Amino acid sequence: ETCSAEQAGIDEFDLKDMKVGFSQSEAESNPFRITETASIKKEAEKRGVELITANAQSDFAQQISDVQDLMSQGAEVLIIAPLNSDGWEPVLAEAERKQVPIVTIDRQINGDACNDYVTFIGSDFVEQGRRAADQMIEALGGKGKVAILLGAAGNNVTTERTKGFKERVEEKAPDIEIVFEQTGEFTREGGQSVTEQLIQSNPDIDGIYAENDEMGIGAVTALRGAGKQPGDVEIVTVDGTEEAVQLIIDGWIHGVVESNPRFGPLAFDAHESFGKGEEVPVELIISDREYDAENAEEELPNAY
Ligand code: AHR
Repeated sequence: ETCSAEQAGIDEFDLKDMKVGFSQSEAESNPFRITETASIKKEAEKRGVELITANAQSDFAQQISDVQDLMSQGAEVLIIAPLNSDGWEPVLAEAERKQVPIVTIDRQINGDACNDYVTFIGSDFVEQGRRAADQMIEALGGKGKVAILLGAAGNNVTTERTKGFKERVEEKAPDIEIVFEQTGEFTREGGQSVTEQLIQSNPDIDGIYAENDEMGIGAVTALRGAGKQPGDVEIVTVDGTEEAVQLIIDGWIHGVVESNPRFGPLAFDAHESFGKGEEVPVELIISDREYDAENAEEELPNAY
């Protein structure tokens, strides 16, 4: 499926002449967010395009008003990293009225492709879950008790990373039992406090699947605090931050599936082609690396 300016009812434009608005969802304490924002800024600079930005600090109402503000400050083109997938109606209506094309990155906005947004650029999150499951199955030799530190609710990333993981475990490792699932809100503190509860309720836990690195790093802190040693609990995470890959080298994390946040070139290319009247795919999948004990040292420079 593709989308063109004609189909979307938007006049063609030259991206170079446009003011671009970028709305970031989460605080830039998570390297995923730091790298994502940097990638957008770098690409705007490289192309000499004017960019205005806002950060909603994980507050969805704030993000809605951020995007409205960006439009009142004259943004004619938008790149949005959405916090939640639902609840975008007020922004979509205003963008339609003002003929502002939207590209969403890393999380999806639920809506009509081409009518509501031009394209979604992100990872194959179900596949990330499957790859994480493969690492966990390997780490546990196909048998054991596993906990899932879920991401925040209300977005497709958490749902899809969970789905891929569970389906693969069910299909390939019937002797792995998922005994605990709780959200750590995609934060380090969340991952740590949920893991502290986990160790109390399930002291015999064999594996932890953390749906992002920040939570996985929090889990390591909790396990350390409880006197555990590297390898006592097998941890698999998603993102590919330097700190998590270093924890593979240190023996605390078994493996990391990358979630690639370097969306800048793809997002600006999509807007540029769309502006020229070309057909743009309504979904673009970015490719992800994978880290384990075998490649962590060599691949560390690719982590973010
Ligand atoms: O939407 C992407 C996810 O959001 C990243 O994996 C995570 O670190 C961030 O919180």
